[in-house]
Amino acid sequence: MIVRDGIPEDVEQMSSFLRELTASGKRTRPDDEAFVLANYINDPDKICCSVAEDEGVILGFQSLKKAKEGNQWGVEPGWGIIGTHTKPSAARRGVGRALFDMTRKAADEAGLSHIDASIGATNSEGLAYYEAMGFRTYRTLEGTICKRFDV
Ligand SMILES: CC(C)(COP(=O)(O)OP(=O)(O)OC[C@H]1O[C@@H](n2cnc3c(N)ncnc32)[C@H](O)[C@@H]1OP(=O)(O)O)[C@@H](O)C(=O)NCCC(=O)NCCS
Repeated sequence: MIVRDGIPEDVEQMSSFLRELTASGKRTRPDDEAFVLANYINDPDKICCSVAEDEGVILGFQSLKKAKEGNQWGVEPGWGIIGTHTKPSAARRGVGRALFDMTRKAADEAGLSHIDASIGATNSEGLAYYEAMGFRTYRTLEGTICKRFDV
């Protein structure tokens, strides 16, 4: 498995496993290719969007963007905002861990001090994953737990 920057050619596979996550109730945001391209690969606030790939198969991706004034998540401007998605058939094999190695370096290089991960309160695997990566709960909103990583 290698971890590299995501490119537009990855969007089809990224969207495909986001649809799997939607079908299993693990995702509620859009999952179509146009959304993936605009909100992850080509996001104007992007710091990085890394993909984990094994011989042409995209196993997961992680996006890091910079929180702007008035962002929809209410995250402190200047912080990073992270999102992680692993293809269901590749879960719990270290994909998320490998992705965060790269994202953490990118956050450091971008001069971020904190990263927010907003996770559904009932998403036990997402909560366990971010906790394992060193994120800690700093606020709780209705139905959402927000964890912070200090870069
Ligand atoms: C959360 C998610 C990204 C984890 O990705 P992953 O590639 O499976 O994670 P990894 O295999 O790298 O796991 C790293 C560590 O996280 C923790 N972890 C991950 N999945 C877990 C689970 N299902 N139960 C308990 N702990 C878990 C463990 O500590 C694990 O280390 P270990 O396997 O050595 O014990 C993945 O389950 C996913 O895509 N879920 C759906 C989308 C989502 O909810 N994203 C998070 C909110 S944005």
